[in-house]
Amino acid sequence: MNIEELRKIVQKRREAIKENMKNIKHKIAVMSGKGGVGKTTVAINLAVSLAKRKKRNDGYSVALLDADIDCPNVNKFLGIEEPFQIRNDKIIPVKKYDIDVVSFASLQEREDQPIIWRGPMLSKAIMQLLEQVEWGELDYLVIDLPPGTSDASLTIMQEIVPDGIIIVTTPQSAAVVDAKKSANMAKELKIPVLGIIENMSGEIFGSGGGEKAAEELGINFLGKIELDKEIARCAEKKKPVVLESFELAEKFKKIVNTIEEVLK
Ligand SMILES: Nc1ncnc2c1ncn2[C@@H]1O[C@H](COP(=O)(O)OP(=O)(O)OP(=O)(O)O)[C@@H](O)[C@H]1O
Ligand SMILES: [Mg+2]
Repeated sequence: MNIEELRKIVQKRREAIKENMKNIKHKIAVMSGKGGVGKTTVAINLAVSLAKRKKRNDGYSVALLDADIDCPNVNKFLGIEEPFQIRNDKIIPVKKYDIDVVSFASLQEREDQPIIWRGPMLSKAIMQLLEQVEWGELDYLVIDLPPGTSDASLTIMQEIVPDGIIIVTTPQSAAVVDAKKSANMAKELKIPVLGIIENMSGEIFGSGGGEKAAEELGINFLGKIELDKEIARCAEKKKPVVLESFELAEKFKKIVNTIEEVLK
């Protein structure tokens, strides 16, 4: 196969993905330079907060894509154990807490089994999934990315082309430097940054780094989430904290409001 033929195949798949995802109004990716800063926590609670608005009838249908292929842990955080259902050759997302969840973990046989896909194979697996899922009509797709600027992140950015990116950082200066790196990657890919969220603020890690980075980069600061026992407890209980804590539900509501403003 020559390079021209290969290009055509890639182009065809891209178009198929685009066609398959055409009824999704907004796609938001949650990103960070460093691992373990709280992307998955933010992505889950953001998705559930968006879906909660549906109940008030001003409406959002929401899906959450766990794009962390090496360590997909959305399912673990939400207590999802069942695999995908397949209907007419399409992958049906797993419904939980009013959101449609799509995670590579739903393809795994055992939770502690590593998924080993590298380079081109990994990109192929992502493209296949994006093309096979029955996304349906969605107001929002929230994408939980792996940390950093890996092959998986790049493939997602290029194939899905999110409307915007949310950067999560912890308050320490090292994490903030990495957050700036993420902002620069977004810029290179010409995807707007909707804002920065500072997570794990408080006495232990300090506070203010996220806001400062946002100021320096000229992007929105979406808010601060404290290092909070309730968040850790809910993760253990496999329940989104916004369904358990009024205070955090309010915080995420504000973040959602700001995101909506920015998307307008
Ligand atoms: N504000 C917080 N307060 C307390 N615990 C938190 C907070 N945010 C996240 N955590 C906990 O910290 C751990 C890491 O969070 P999370 O998995 O969301 O980070 P991540 O950025 O998605 O990590 P990875 O890079 O591995 O994907 C989890 O156990 C989570 O429950
Ligand atoms: Mg994660």
